[in-house]
Amino acid sequence: MSEANQITLRRMAAEDLLAVHELEQQLFPEDAWPLAGFESELAQSDTRTYWVYEDAGRVVGYAGLCVVLPIADVQTIAMHPDYQGRGLGRKLLALLIQTAGEKNALDVMLEVRFDNPGAIGLYESMGFTTIHRRKGYYKGGVDALIMRLPLDVQQGQEEERNA
Ligand SMILES: CC(C)(COP(=O)(O)OP(=O)(O)OC[C@H]1O[C@@H](n2cnc3c(N)ncnc32)[C@H](O)[C@@H]1OP(=O)(O)O)[C@@H](O)C(=O)NCCC(=O)NCCS
Repeated sequence: MSEANQITLRRMAAEDLLAVHELEQQLFPEDAWPLAGFESELAQSDTRTYWVYEDAGRVVGYAGLCVVLPIADVQTIAMHPDYQGRGLGRKLLALLIQTAGEKNALDVMLEVRFDNPGAIGLYESMGFTTIHRRKGYYKGGVDALIMRLPLDVQQGQEEERNA
């Protein structure tokens, strides 16, 4: 496996979509977005911002943010299984949160499957809290947690850490 320092983070382009969609199907077998879903997202560049991690020309992770003020939504975030647990997902989420702040969003929102403790752990460690549990939201009747990060609180935590 390549070392983390060879992995680059850049904006997603139309040429990435087949690879992104392939990874999407692998990571979200029950809830994968169709390719057209990603195409539609990329086309809405006024409100959407998407990134990919690339390693030796191969897409190994991706994430997207939608900002319609005052709310920013994490549309998706995912890392290839071989690249999970190396701090890359946290870095990507931090970038989404930073971008939401730069675009003057007041809150960052996301939805996550109730049966995804890894992702929930990441979100909670970044300051997100559950504000609602949506029953049977996902295929198979799995509940969704709606999580929220108020950006003033996040900024306060960052200032505390830097003090
Ligand atoms: C969720 C995901 C994006 C996190 O990315 P990652 O690169 O693996 O995460 P990191 O290595 O940056 O770890 C960040 C934190 O996530 C949490 N975490 C990650 N994997 C975990 C696991 N298996 N169990 C519990 N917590 C886990 C931990 O809090 C971890 O922090 P720590 O390393 O300080 O303990 C990635 O695991 C993934 O793509 N999963 C499949 C797709 C998915 O579920 N996406 C989210 C949809 S809402």
